[in-house]
Amino acid sequence: MPGISRRDLLYSGLALSTSPLWARSAWARAAAVLAAAPQAEAALEPREHLLFDFGWKFQLGNLSDPAKDFGFGNGQGDFAKTGDFGFAHVGFDDSKWRTLNLPHDWAVELPFVHDDEQQSHGYKPLGRRYPESSVGWYRREFEMASSEAGRQVTVEFDGVFRDVQIFVNGCFVGRNNNGYAPFRFDITDFLELGKKNCIVARVDASFGDGWFYEGAGIYRHVWLTKTDAVHLSPWESCVRTVVNGNPTELSLATMVRNEGKEATGARVRWQILDADGKVVAKADTPEKRIDHDACSGFAASAQIVHPLLWSPEEPHLYTAVVTVESGGKVRDAERVPFGIRTTKFDADHGFFLNGKSVKIQGTCNHQDHAGVGAAVPDRLQAFRVAVLQQMGSNAIRTSHNMPTPELVAACDRMGMMMMCETRQMSSSPEGLAQLEAMVKRYRNSPSIILWSIGNEEWRLQGGQAEEGEKIAATMVRRCHELDPTRVVSAAVNGDNEKGLSNSLDVIGFNYNLQNPDNFHKKHPTRPVFGSETASAISTRGIYQTDPLRNTLSAYDVNQPGWGELAEEWWKFYAGREWLAGGFAWTGFDYRGEPTPYGWPSINSQFGIVDMCGFPKDSFFYYKAWWGKDPVLHLFPHWNWKGREGDEIAVWAHSNLDEVELLVNGKSAGKQKVPHLGHVEWKVRYEPGVIEARGWKDGKLVLTDKRETTGPVASLRLTADRTEIDADGEDVAVVTVEALDSEGRQVPTAETQVGFKVTGAGALIGVGNGDPNCQESDKEPHRSLFNGLAQAILQSSKSAGTIEIEARAHEGHTTPVKLTITTKKATSRPFVG
Ligand code: GAL
Repeated sequence: MPGISRRDLLYSGLALSTSPLWARSAWARAAAVLAAAPQAEAALEPREHLLFDFGWKFQLGNLSDPAKDFGFGNGQGDFAKTGDFGFAHVGFDDSKWRTLNLPHDWAVELPFVHDDEQQSHGYKPLGRRYPESSVGWYRREFEMASSEAGRQVTVEFDGVFRDVQIFVNGCFVGRNNNGYAPFRFDITDFLELGKKNCIVARVDASFGDGWFYEGAGIYRHVWLTKTDAVHLSPWESCVRTVVNGNPTELSLATMVRNEGKEATGARVRWQILDADGKVVAKADTPEKRIDHDACSGFAASAQIVHPLLWSPEEPHLYTAVVTVESGGKVRDAERVPFGIRTTKFDADHGFFLNGKSVKIQGTCNHQDHAGVGAAVPDRLQAFRVAVLQQMGSNAIRTSHNMPTPELVAACDRMGMMMMCETRQMSSSPEGLAQLEAMVKRYRNSPSIILWSIGNEEWRLQGGQAEEGEKIAATMVRRCHELDPTRVVSAAVNGDNEKGLSNSLDVIGFNYNLQNPDNFHKKHPTRPVFGSETASAISTRGIYQTDPLRNTLSAYDVNQPGWGELAEEWWKFYAGREWLAGGFAWTGFDYRGEPTPYGWPSINSQFGIVDMCGFPKDSFFYYKAWWGKDPVLHLFPHWNWKGREGDEIAVWAHSNLDEVELLVNGKSAGKQKVPHLGHVEWKVRYEPGVIEARGWKDGKLVLTDKRETTGPVASLRLTADRTEIDADGEDVAVVTVEALDSEGRQVPTAETQVGFKVTGAGALIGVGNGDPNCQESDKEPHRSLFNGLAQAILQSSKSAGTIEIEARAHEGHTTPVKLTITTKKATSRPFVG
């Protein structure tokens, strides 16, 4: 982690609970770690790997009326002749289409509809019953120089939701029919050199892959890759490491494809670079003949002496530079980042990383953030990882689908372990294709400690046990073939003694704390972990559950019938050495699944942090027992006007020995903190101050307090970073707070705030973490929810400043301003 020490990442419970500083330090880590990203990812000559995200045109089409869908499907003949799709020819009039940059999620822009069928999708009008908002068209014209003759040109989509058809220069080139797997098409033959070309994506989001908010549109990056006719096959370069004493053995493999007109000889060289770019090992192969239009495998081995191992504390990475030579020339090259570490799931002692016992302190997460939906900018991915790390979490489960590459890259670089899950549990061609794409794409990533082939497949885990066992066996076998270094699991919420579980390397339990002990007794040789736990529910900043307002108290007291409280599941898993740890449902709140309420709630309340990443109080429970630093967090807030004399529960999350509570200076008692528990008092409310004092080994170590505040007197804007890259992608995450006349955050403020953003960037989304707020994520205003809101600013490509002004709609507060500087930086090469 260049330029930032672990110390910088630490902050006291006090600082975290009363100021947005947490976001700054979280972001500092993410920023420092990712600063080197463009260079680490830059394509190597003669390959070009261009970001194809900027300057697309977008328009909603129509699922049922061809007249409103650019004539598509008007008669029988759309696919009759190659090249006839008018909308995909240069010159088609798209002047009324909106211009936007990818990644883009149009679902988050749609209004909410009160339709209970749409509850899981966050009440967004998507599906066959919503023909006018379920199809989106993306169109882009681009130049191809005559000098590109002889190059292979491929368009690569990292993920589109959902059923997408791609057209180039009037020709249909292919289709992808799932929301999460990446796909690519070689479009060389369809291009006109020395001219403008046109690509169109018609995206139909009327079917879903899941039961949660999934977005709609091209919500991940698109790339245009140009290579020589002799080139490395995608995702075939693989570095396997065997750590067995010193040195570490590397086995290196790749595939080369020859799309030239005749057979050719080729050889492959590997250079292994350490984090400073120093060559630490080399290997090469003899020359081999590759026939025209054929593919050939190449393999070699190398050694690294005294390697730096990858771990959450020290996420050391290496890079393999893979080069293909043919006819005395370098024809293609790529960088393959990898890490060196060992993993083991043990039936008696849980999980081991590099030979050391490590409990998995994980969370499950969907890709969904306030303001942007599924189209999460890369930097925001890193921000989210950092938020989870700040509570001591060391692992993410990518529920329930293969993740965006930039999330995996962030986890590799920031030291977050991952359980990587495929969407479709099936040994059908589609199911296996999704699985293969995931394993091939990510098998070099050290963060990934295990693959998951599915989640809660009721038929396959029990109902149709035999079928489940066979399907799972085929999937597990395929994982092992592609990646013999990792074990395979699945998330199972029922019978783990039959069906698909019989085929797994590691048994995953979803919930059901009554099961693991019996299972372990009967199957003492099978390693076990919690693939999904908790599902505790709470609303940030709310301390009385109110079904009339669809809110849930943030004391750790609410869970649905199948779930567990934070304290329940963690005591269970932490107390059993043979359990490898687990993944709490969920780290972040997400749209959809508004359990236990329905409309007007539009997002879940399972998160340990809300949709913006603002911590709920249970965040500090995990931080106390997962983290390494002293924690003292006192709640609730102390603004209970009208409840004077009422008894109020006061809790503290802490990992210190003892905590004393003072109410307006008078002691309400000192309590021992139970291991993996919390302390609580009952206090009669009177305005003033409650203060917690935390002792360790007889010494006062931390204090935390909550004060009765006055009304809102001003606003405060704080950014996680005030200097970002002018690359059209980077973001600043701005926290908006309401303060009283003494500068204290008003924890109940619901002030409406309007934003004006000018200069070298734009406001791309707003949020406040309220699960019941149906205000737009895209309009330049938002109400605060319990004192907080978030505004996300994205840079343009011109260096300069972005000014954000926030103005409260009520009261007499003066507008506040914040300036973000955007600096020219090494940006990724892109299609202009
Ligand atoms: C699980 C499921 C998750 C989510 C969760 C809510 O059963 O795997 O996707 O729905 O329940 O508690």
